[in-house]
Amino acid sequence: MYLKLIEVSMIKNLKGTIQIPMVGFGTYLINNEETRKYVLSAIRAGYRHIDTAKAYGNEEGVGLAIKNAQSELGLSREEIFVTTKLWPGNEAWGQPPKTNESTIESFNSSLDKLKLDYIDLYLIHAPFSKDYRLEQWRALSELQQLGKAKSIGVCNYNKSHIEQIKAAGLPLPDVNQIELHPWSQKNSLVSYLIENEILPIAYSSLLPLSEWRAVEGEDSAKTDKMKSDGASKNSPFKIMAKKYGVSEAQVLLRWGLQKGYPIIPKSTNEDRILQNINVFSFEIDNEDMEAIANMDRGAGLAWASGDPIQAP
Ligand SMILES: NC(=O)c1ccc[n+]([C@@H]2O[C@H](COP(=O)([O-])OP(=O)(O)OC[C@H]3O[C@@H](n4cnc5c(N)ncnc54)[C@H](OP(=O)(O)O)[C@@H]3O)[C@@H](O)[C@H]2O)c1
Repeated sequence: MYLKLIEVSMIKNLKGTIQIPMVGFGTYLINNEETRKYVLSAIRAGYRHIDTAKAYGNEEGVGLAIKNAQSELGLSREEIFVTTKLWPGNEAWGQPPKTNESTIESFNSSLDKLKLDYIDLYLIHAPFSKDYRLEQWRALSELQQLGKAKSIGVCNYNKSHIEQIKAAGLPLPDVNQIELHPWSQKNSLVSYLIENEILPIAYSSLLPLSEWRAVEGEDSAKTDKMKSDGASKNSPFKIMAKKYGVSEAQVLLRWGLQKGYPIIPKSTNEDRILQNINVFSFEIDNEDMEAIANMDRGAGLAWASGDPIQAP
């Protein structure tokens, strides 16, 4: 247990001032009632970063788990890094875009549900609502200046969305949370982010696995071919897992860490919660990293409607 805590305390600086644990716990598709239990298990296992969102509907469960963990493990607020996200609205889906005022309202409602007085990282969930993107970003900058959000960022933004922020003379995001795994490596976007000191955070790291969101109703844009490639006994990740004496999931997570990306795997299986943070005892060698570099299959697949990075 203590060893895991040390390993997870490897950190990455955001603009040199904020530290983010390299392994976080994702909570998408965990309902509010079950969230307390699994987030508490994750914190007990050594996770010190929890990733939630207004759209996941489980901020209350996350807040309860944090309070429980604090009293059970004697953790201070500063020892747990909490990310949540603004749902920006999407006119294409018949939703009103968030304005400055409704962004601040939504942030305050997240704080209230999480029972926290600040958020470590507040993100805009997607680059929807083209005409309101800058207004939403200004609101996040205000929240950061007030110290209510220690760091701020975006998700699923491409270069042109970030250039829009730059052209308006506004501070750039601290992070961009994007779908990153061997099948969606986004090399040119990642280079752009690094040049601009924007930290890429990887989500859906486990997507190439056959088990990934395999339950009915957990949609994605994964094709049948991709599903059968993931299930194949010749899957390169199965071969590497055998070589390193770990699971395929650990290979995929380790790839993200070796690329320098904080990762945020989700699981509602107690053994996998433990397994997914146990990724510091082996290293993928250069030959395998080079082989994985050739496995890119392009745009993201985690969103059922395709890659939100393609939003105008
Ligand atoms: N900003 C965004 O737009 C965005 C989009 C997607 C995700 N996210 C964030 O990133 C987090 C992670 O992404 P994700 O939930 O899409 O995918 P993920 O964490 O890469 O994978 C989760 C899926 O893999 C399974 N799994 C977990 N550990 C496993 C293991 N060791 N072996 C085999 N299967 C395993 C899980 O099932 P079990 O639960 O049964 O283990 C679940 O089906 C989300 O929860 C969310 O917090 C953000």
